[in-house]
Amino acid sequence: MQEQIKSINTLEELQALYTATFGKNGTMTAKLKNMKNLDNDARAKLNRENVALRELFKSRQTELENAAMHAALAAQRLDPSLDILPENRGTLHPLTQTLSDVSSILESFGYEMWTGPEVEDDWHNFTALNTPEYHPARDMQDTFFLENGNVMRTQTSAIQIRSMEKIGAPIKMFGIGATYRKEMDATHSPMFHQIEGLYIDTDITMSDLIADVREFLKRFFEMDDVELRVRPSYFPFTEPSIEIDMKWHGDRWLEIMGAGMVHPNVLRNCNIDTDKYQGFAFGFGWDRLAMLKYGLSDIRKFYDGDVRWLQKTGF
Ligand code: DAH
Repeated sequence: MQEQIKSINTLEELQALYTATFGKNGTMTAKLKNMKNLDNDARAKLNRENVALRELFKSRQTELENAAMHAALAAQRLDPSLDILPENRGTLHPLTQTLSDVSSILESFGYEMWTGPEVEDDWHNFTALNTPEYHPARDMQDTFFLENGNVMRTQTSAIQIRSMEKIGAPIKMFGIGATYRKEMDATHSPMFHQIEGLYIDTDITMSDLIADVREFLKRFFEMDDVELRVRPSYFPFTEPSIEIDMKWHGDRWLEIMGAGMVHPNVLRNCNIDTDKYQGFAFGFGWDRLAMLKYGLSDIRKFYDGDVRWLQKTGF
C-alpha cells in the first residue's frame, strides 16, 4: 500500500485510492469496524497502520499539490526578453533644462533661488520699483490689469522687492518665474519667463555685475570666453542702467539682458540703509536664453505641448 501511494502521480488517482481505503466501503474502514474482535496487540498494530497510512496520504497530497502549483506558475511565466518597452523615454522640456543649468551656475556663485506670486499687487510690480502711478515708464510694459487693481506680474523684478522686504541687506538672490504682457508674435508670448539677479552688500560695484554676468554667460553657453558690449539704457529701478550685448557666432551683437545699480529709492522702499548698502540687479528672458542655446526660433512652441516638437528639441 505504501509503495502504491508513493507511485501515484495525480491528485485524482490519490483521491480514488483514499476513498477505496478510508471511504464507507473502504478496506481500512472494514478493518477498523472489525477492531472489537482483535486482541490488544493486533488493535495497537492496526491503529499505528491507520495513522501511518493517513499521514502518507496527506504528505503525498501536499507533494502533488506543490508540483501542480509549480507547473501552473511555470506555464504562466513572462518572458522578460520580449521587446515591449516603448522606444521613447521622454525628455526634459527645454525650459526645465535651461532653468536647471541657470540655477546651478547662479547657485555656485552664491545666489539663492526665490519665487513669488504671478498675480502681483501694484506696489511690488511697479511702485516699489521706483515706478509710481503716472510714471511714464509704466508704458514700457503692456500690462494685464485685474479688476481689483492687481496685475499679472510683468517682470520678475517684483521678486527682488519681496526678497529685500523679507531679508533686507546684505542679500544675494535670483528670482525666477512666469511673467505676462499683452504681446504676441514669434519672439513674444503673452506668458513668458524671466530670471532676475540681485546682489546688495556694502561694496558692490558695476564691475562685480559685469564679472558675474560674463562668467555666467561663459558657463551657460559653454564658451571659453564671451565678448560683451555694455550700452547705457533706462530702467526706473536702476541708476545707472545698462543693457548687455553678447557677440554671437563672431558676427552679430545680441541683446542679452538689462541691468544696473539698484536705484536708492528702491532700496529705501525696502527699508535698506542706502548710506551703508548698494548693489546691482539684472534681468533676462529665460525663454530667450533657451532659444539661443538650443537654436529655437518661435517662443510660442514652448507652450504648445506638441510632443513631436519636444522630442525634436529633447535632451
Ligand atoms: N525688469 C526688466 C524688464 O522686464 C528687466 C530688468 C532690467 C531687470 C534691469 C533688472 C534690471 O533687474 O536691473 O525688462
